[in-house]
Amino acid sequence: MIEQASTPNRVEHQMTDKGYVPVYTTAVVEQPWESYSAEDHRTWATLFERQMALLQGRACDEFFEGLNALNMSADAIPKFSEINQILKAATGWTLIGVEGLLPELTFFEHLAARRFPVTWWIRRPDQIDYISEPDLFHDLFGHVPLLMLPVFADYMQAYGEGGLKAARYGDEPLTELTRLYWYTVEFGLINTPDGLRIYGAGIQSSKGESIYSLESEAPNRIGFDVERVMRSRYRIDTYQKTYYVIDSFEQLFRATVDPDFGPIYYRLKGASAHPAGAVLESDKVFHRGSGEGWPEDADA
Ligand SMILES: [Fe+2]
Repeated sequence: MIEQASTPNRVEHQMTDKGYVPVYTTAVVEQPWESYSAEDHRTWATLFERQMALLQGRACDEFFEGLNALNMSADAIPKFSEINQILKAATGWTLIGVEGLLPELTFFEHLAARRFPVTWWIRRPDQIDYISEPDLFHDLFGHVPLLMLPVFADYMQAYGEGGLKAARYGDEPLTELTRLYWYTVEFGLINTPDGLRIYGAGIQSSKGESIYSLESEAPNRIGFDVERVMRSRYRIDTYQKTYYVIDSFEQLFRATVDPDFGPIYYRLKGASAHPAGAVLESDKVFHRGSGEGWPEDADA
């Protein structure tokens, strides 16, 4: 059941005397494209140009191929309706406009139906370098290009189906599955003949992390293993302490979808989670992080 909102709101977190409180919303909205101000389009252009320059030689080829095929450019905030014509024909996905963060189950339901929720509003100029929640730039620029890649598009749908299933298994499987999304869709790296490249949307939409994730001595870069990732905590307030490297998108799809998650939850039941910065004996280490600048506590 999709709830339609007539006038889109801009739903953001709230600061209370208890600190940051995320606010969730479930409405699906038409992108109010005519309502974007000149300043909104400039913000898009600034972010687009900056990331395109930074990501040359850092993001994977598939990201640029998707972005070009979708005709995204710095000229103006893209229209979801125009993106959808191309995206739907390529992989059967459609973008839907949303007002902000979705509750987990609502999010999974959309992914399982090949609908990708994109926040309709873009950050303010004073938030150019950092915003604590997803906005249009993160969702559209960061996530949508890879939805043009069939194997990744299938992975995203399978992930949504896996999420709905995990919710029936309980809290622990949901937490484990969230870690998988975090370390792949948001912060994943891929090994290519030209070296490590970025495919995670959280990195692709971040100026600082585009460089840090690949070039800093501080974080670990470790070969992807689905159970390892599902047992590993992560950071929500800083750059990651560890990035996981896939060999190919096919590997990601096979490793996560074939086992259908059930046996993994069973094996991981009651197992303690590894700290975000841990390196294990069994890890395939591309780079062992120096740990410089890492906060000691508060891994999520
Ligand atoms: Fe995201």
